[in-house]
Amino acid sequence: MADVTLTTLQGLKQKGEKIVMLTCYDATFAKTASEAGVEMLLIGDSLGMVLQGHDSTLPVSVEEMAYHTACVKRGNRGAMIVTDLPFMANATIEQTLNNSAALMKAGAHMIKVEGTAWLAESIRLLAERGIPVCAHMGLTPQAVNIFGGYKVQGRQEAQAQQMVEDAKALEAAGAALLLLECVPSELAARITQAVSVPVIGIGAGSETDGQVLVLHDMLGLSLSGRTPKFVKNFMAEHGDIAKAIAAYVAAVKAVEFPAAEHGFSA
Ligand code: KIV
Repeated sequence: MADVTLTTLQGLKQKGEKIVMLTCYDATFAKTASEAGVEMLLIGDSLGMVLQGHDSTLPVSVEEMAYHTACVKRGNRGAMIVTDLPFMANATIEQTLNNSAALMKAGAHMIKVEGTAWLAESIRLLAERGIPVCAHMGLTPQAVNIFGGYKVQGRQEAQAQQMVEDAKALEAAGAALLLLECVPSELAARITQAVSVPVIGIGAGSETDGQVLVLHDMLGLSLSGRTPKFVKNFMAEHGDIAKAIAAYVAAVKAVEFPAAEHGFSA
């Protein structure tokens, strides 16, 4: 695969071809996933849960994110590498800039931050300094203690309208990508129409510009024994990791995944 850049992603959005993102935390999976056609590898702070066994993403450090980013970089074959800024790593502007720089130096091509319109100033500063930013909205797991659990966001019209406005504000601030987690499918479609940057969804229906899943979820592996509604186990039919990842890529490209049953209504 030729190196995936922001221009590639914009081209895919314009063509109406879905973008495929998958979480990834090490070199071997990075090689396997990028060779299977995954265009974006996300070093998500979900690693705190699926690799480290914590019950939330909050304990993850910048050093751990940098370590896994460097591992993924060594195995990657052309995908764009996106790394999460973990909990409180963007508590101040100075921390945002220094921690983002550390993750870019470790191998990230883009930084992902969780939040709403309050992120605008830091997104602007990062973009001005050459760091592309993905703004993660909707169910942002770092705010699980504010939400009172992992709950669908944007079900009330007032909250939905606010999310549309926030998405436009973050695009105007310079966000290169938006990611929507656990929002009603019709709201995700509305936001995707309202902005010109690509929008990736997880639990957000099929009308976003692309999809992401947590690697362990789509391979049918679960520490808690609970599988979110928006997950499909691609190992069940394929029994081989490389084939399961290739099937995920094909299903997203063919708009067969996610199906209606993986989405949420308002
Ligand atoms: O940390 C992560 O893996 C994520 C995805 C669930 C989008 O943010």
